[in-house]
Amino acid sequence: MQVIPPRFPKGRPRRLRRTPWIRNLVKESPVSVNDLIMPVFLTDRTGGSEEISSLPGLMRYGIDGAVELANECSGLGIPAIALFPYVDAELKTRDCSEAVNPENLVNRATRAIKQAVPDIGIMLDVALDPYNPTGHDGLVENGEVLNDETLEILVRQALVQADSGADILGPSDMMDGRIGAIRAGLDSAGHHGTAILAYTAKYASVFYGPFRDAVGSSGALTGDKRTYQMDPCNADEALRMAARDLEEGADMIMVKPGMPYLDICSLVKSTFRAPTFAYQVSGEYGMIMAGHQRGYFDLDAAVIESLSSFKRAGCDGVLTYFATRAARHLKKAGVT
Ligand code: PBG
Repeated sequence: MQVIPPRFPKGRPRRLRRTPWIRNLVKESPVSVNDLIMPVFLTDRTGGSEEISSLPGLMRYGIDGAVELANECSGLGIPAIALFPYVDAELKTRDCSEAVNPENLVNRATRAIKQAVPDIGIMLDVALDPYNPTGHDGLVENGEVLNDETLEILVRQALVQADSGADILGPSDMMDGRIGAIRAGLDSAGHHGTAILAYTAKYASVFYGPFRDAVGSSGALTGDKRTYQMDPCNADEALRMAARDLEEGADMIMVKPGMPYLDICSLVKSTFRAPTFAYQVSGEYGMIMAGHQRGYFDLDAAVIESLSSFKRAGCDGVLTYFATRAARHLKKAGVT
């Protein structure tokens, strides 16, 4: 069907832009609080909460603080939070054993939040970087990031996290075959209901810088992640990755970073019609905050516009450090 709009002066596109109510009526891709996942940084260090110097306006929370924040998110209607631990240097070992410790920070926090705020979804990253002295997402031997050996420990990490009550696992490691291995591991342990949101098209990006400071892995990182994360120039490869991850059992797929990769979001969504998420990463948060601090734009307006772009590109939801801010703004504006 080809739609030929009537020509001016019969056709006047401004008719549908005249008033707020008519603009609302024809709005195509509004963002709603239901679309948001809030990443939350955890710390064991002070027992309390502390500011994150690389992410102005964001905190690392002790477990009590994280429970409080989860409660606030739930009250705002945010469906899920994603927990990321700051791990002390002395807990980072070459075998990354802290990743599979049922008593590690993310697992304790997950159990505490599940008990106190049972109605919010909890997502956990499956990857070794917070626990690895090299800062890499996989086991490292002679400077090489090992694939198959890493899969074994990732499966164990996923099982411990599912046992702790995680609802969604987010393999963010980019090893080959991880989704199939983790799905099989979960199923054989009876965790049929634990969902996988795969970091499917995860690019080797400079925009992760502030996150690596927030979880204490940037000082540790030796080299870069280009032997497993994707080349920012590649789009066809994102489609192949999505096909693989879905075939291996991913329930949902993700594109990361977000705004510089809206073309990939759109391509992946229109090709597979699967639940698709974007991760508006730490460097994107930083750019928007910096622009606001310089007086370039109003922060809430910039946040809502950026989140709307993900919806327009076809995303079903967004992981964003602005989730609580956006939720508060939407509530004030009467958007549900
Ligand atoms: C770790 C992981 C990273 C992010 C989420 N999980 C960093 C990385 O791959 O180095 C980045 C998130 C952000 O920048 O906000 N596997």
